[in-house]
Amino acid sequence: MAIDLGNNNTVLTDQHYRSVSQPSFIALHKANRSVKAVGSEAYEMLGKANEHLKVVKPLKGGVIVDFDAANSLLKSLVHQWYPSSFFRGFDHVIAGIPFDTTEVERRALRDALEQFNAPRTFLLFEPLAAAIGLGLHIQEPDGKFLVDIGGGITEIVVISLSGIVSHQSIKVAGDTFDEDIQDYFKKNYNMSLGSKVAEQLKIKVGSAVTALQEAPPPLEVVGKDLMTGLPVSRCIDHVEMAGIVNSTVSKIEQAILLALEECPPELAGDIYGNGIYLTGGGSLLRGLRQRLEASTKLPVHHDTHALLSVSKGMATVMQKPSAFRPVLFQ
Ligand SMILES: Nc1ncnc2c1ncn2[C@@H]1O[C@H](COP(=O)(O)OP(=O)(O)OP(=O)(O)O)[C@@H](O)[C@H]1O
Ligand SMILES: [Mg+2]
Repeated sequence: MAIDLGNNNTVLTDQHYRSVSQPSFIALHKANRSVKAVGSEAYEMLGKANEHLKVVKPLKGGVIVDFDAANSLLKSLVHQWYPSSFFRGFDHVIAGIPFDTTEVERRALRDALEQFNAPRTFLLFEPLAAAIGLGLHIQEPDGKFLVDIGGGITEIVVISLSGIVSHQSIKVAGDTFDEDIQDYFKKNYNMSLGSKVAEQLKIKVGSAVTALQEAPPPLEVVGKDLMTGLPVSRCIDHVEMAGIVNSTVSKIEQAILLALEECPPELAGDIYGNGIYLTGGGSLLRGLRQRLEASTKLPVHHDTHALLSVSKGMATVMQKPSAFRPVLFQ
């Protein structure tokens, strides 16, 4: 079994590429922290739970911040989706971790995986898994430049000979866009928006540029007036959205430019030829590819399965463990 315990989505995969993706949320009874719901069922309860329930997102910035909740989330998801294997046990467990993590953060993940009692448990870096999932030949000495914009963290890496040669990581990603939207509505319209509403707004009309070839229709959004406390609505189009997320897009852009600047000269030629590989759910923001192509003057290849590249890569590793041994560690 392979686990991509993401900031926003947890994807479980077997070696046959059969996967299940669920939001990384868990609803707990406040009194004894027993589990009420996990995944999409828990996400549905977000912002709507009663006084006896608490909906928890156990990760922040791509790493575990609530160990017990992360542990229970994994246990419940695995039990739900692999009931027979859950009791029989797994031969191998592989899990992804961001590259820019401390030993303490990695240990928290290892500890959470211990509950599956697998004889062999390995970690691998998520950007390497994503590159494998994209079908890139990471073993070659030919440099690959990959950008994974997740929910909590953006990792930018240069890969060569199955390893990471240089990197930039910022805790700015999909969630940051949602926070930008919530802040903007508060400041400009005195309106409070729930985080789920902000995320939907981003997905439906969000854009990194004002000029889009196929612009989405404007969307009416409902929130709460902070002065009167009454429900109010407002219509938003992609041009206004581009202004709202502009500073966060710029931060990602700047980190990419810095990574290119710091890339060893021997690999710069490869990157010039190969271009940039863009993946992760946050990269699905409309117009982002065009904007990055304009600012880097490099071709940007956008992953068509941006939400699943890490788990696809891990399934490939499970199929040919000996070929990918250098990317796994304990
Ligand atoms: N169509 C879309 N347009 C814009 N953003 C999207 C779209 N679909 C999903 N997202 C965003 O992608 C993010 C989740 O992406 P992903 O599943 O790759 O993150 P994660 O792996 O859980 O997080 P991390 O890699 O930081 O641990 C969320 O912020 C979500 O709102
Ligand atoms: Mg991820």
